Amino acid sequence: MSSSLKLSDLVDFDQKTLLISALSIAFNPTFWNIVARREYRTHFLTRLFGGNRQAACYFLAATIFSLGLVRDFLYERALRHQPSHPLLSTDAATYVGYALIAAGNILVVSSTWALGITGTFLGDYFGILMDHMVTGFPFNLTDAPMYNGSTMAFLGSALVYGKPAGVLLTVWVFLVYKVALAFENPFTAEIYAKRERARKAGKKAL
Ligand SMILES: *[C@@H]1O[C@H](CO)[C@@H](O)[C@H](O)[C@H]1NC(C)=O
Repeated sequence: MSSSLKLSDLVDFDQKTLLISALSIAFNPTFWNIVARREYRTHFLTRLFGGNRQAACYFLAATIFSLGLVRDFLYERALRHQPSHPLLSTDAATYVGYALIAAGNILVVSSTWALGITGTFLGDYFGILMDHMVTGFPFNLTDAPMYNGSTMAFLGSALVYGKPAGVLLTVWVFLVYKVALAFENPFTAEIYAKRERARKAGKKAL
């Protein structure tokens, strides 16, 4: 009996649905960063909504949310086409999976609750800035509850389905979000630093 374990024994790389899921996972943050930065530079969405940046931001929020549903659908479809593994098909793995999905969703929903729709969905790029930094739950647990909660839910689904391919796609989610955060955090920080400089300049002018 061979004891060597190859990734290709655990994951069926010939399934196109696997690649499609990986592409949709990478597409979403790429899409919202390109759109949001373009909005920041040109206000093209706000102009599309007759100058109403609140409406424009809600439109982007609905688009991002819908893309998330498509991504989740493609992920679950990919998992259904993948082999299971006995180690992941135990009751314990299933319970841990459900717990991860529940905890991940609590992080996502509570951070949306704390930030509001425009605070969650890139309102800063539209010029809708938060008055204060939100520091309460879930931001006292993690500074990126949306991303971490979403990653936990991906891992949870992989365990509930008992599919090693899901664990692999979760690693991909983690990497994609890491790149997205490295790209977004300095940009958002600069938007707020700019407001701070403008406030200071305003005070001096008085
Ligand atoms: C975070 O805040 C919540 C609610 O304010 C509190 O119950 C919880 O203990 C806090 N957690 C940490 C790690 O500080």
